Amino acid sequence: MFSLHVYEERRSRLKALMPDKSLAIISAAHEVIRNRDAEYPFRQSSDFWYLTGFTEPDAVLVIGPGHPDRLFVRPKNPDQEVWTGRRLGPEHVKTHLGIDEGFPIEALDSELGRLLADVAWVEYPFYCQRSSEIVDRTIRPKAGNSRRQDLLSHRVDLSRHLHQARLIKSPEEVDAMREAGRISALGHVAAMQACEPGMTEDQLASVVEHCFRMEGSAAVAYQTIVGGGDNACILHYIDRNDRLHSGDLVLIDAGCEIQGYAGDITRTFPVNGSFTGAQADLYDLVLSAQAEAIQAMVVGKSIKLFHEAAIRRLTEGLIELKIIEGPLEAALDDKRYLPYYMHGTGHFLGLDVHDVGAYEDSGQPIELAEGMVITCEPGIYISKLAGAPATYRGVGIRIEDDVLITKRGPDILTSQVPKERADIEALMRG
Ligand code: GLY
Ligand code: MN
Ligand code: MN
Repeated sequence: MFSLHVYEERRSRLKALMPDKSLAIISAAHEVIRNRDAEYPFRQSSDFWYLTGFTEPDAVLVIGPGHPDRLFVRPKNPDQEVWTGRRLGPEHVKTHLGIDEGFPIEALDSELGRLLADVAWVEYPFYCQRSSEIVDRTIRPKAGNSRRQDLLSHRVDLSRHLHQARLIKSPEEVDAMREAGRISALGHVAAMQACEPGMTEDQLASVVEHCFRMEGSAAVAYQTIVGGGDNACILHYIDRNDRLHSGDLVLIDAGCEIQGYAGDITRTFPVNGSFTGAQADLYDLVLSAQAEAIQAMVVGKSIKLFHEAAIRRLTEGLIELKIIEGPLEAALDDKRYLPYYMHGTGHFLGLDVHDVGAYEDSGQPIELAEGMVITCEPGIYISKLAGAPATYRGVGIRIEDDVLITKRGPDILTSQVPKERADIEALMRG
């Protein structure tokens, strides 16, 4: 975790935006059963992690202006800990997490009942089911208690302030994301070096993820996508059960997590190490679209410009390759690129791979600001069934990098993995 003062400052900034006599309730995640009594790997809720640095399940943070920060955690239980692992316990909350007061989670409802009696506003992230349930059960059942009835109409969504804070990355967050970018890039390099016709998509995914683990990342930021040939045209293809064929391209979209912060990289390369002429035409088009989009990722520019730059270049190229009809402006007006490029060109990146933060303010696209991290990921997808010339069918290409917006221009956090065709072919030749 980061230094304790990082989390203290985050909580203080949030409290400064809350009205007097308000209390915020933010729940940790809960372990989820996968089958019978086996759980999915536990992943902390991003909002809770951001404010506490604490990675155990079943905890609740309660903060408010003029209140000590309170954390409710699972109590220590040596018998239980032998089976399910160590717990911090309320008595260590202050020293290990720098949070003023620790309580056993069992005391949550009674403590909250007491605290809410003197509160005018209760804030929590509305999307968070566990936080909502806590608020509902502590303010609803007391019919006749007018103070609590008032609170029903004085609930405030904490997400806006919290998510705007998460949108701008601090120096220590940038360091973590740079490391996530570096390790994610190494995973893609390893895959390019290991790829051979006849391997399965899942075997190639295991090469990427093995590298992540060996470099010190405990988790993938999202399920690794490895799609050979036509499978690359399925945007979130996670089946990975086909073999990779010589003559096809393979698309890998994979990123690791460092301290919860995501890397998110896509590379597309030939299974046998050499691009065909038609694959090269499409690949170079996507690469040029990415270059033009990245040039538009500049402080003060509208966030929609980099997507528009990618669309313009892709449309121009699709016309040149006779995959769609021109002229350019008419093709753009009619969105003729849509059958071949159907997603946005990027998204915020942070503790969530599709990170929080508002893309619009009062209906207008926001301007890019220093400290945002945004992916840049144009692509072209021409499935076997598409109406394009046969030579281009069965090909999906995406090239994705993670870009830190700075006053000095776009800073690419994932540049250690090649994307020029000649560099990829040289790496694969070994
Ligand atoms: N890896 C998911 C995405 O690129 O949006
Ligand atoms: Mn992405
Ligand atoms: Mn991705």
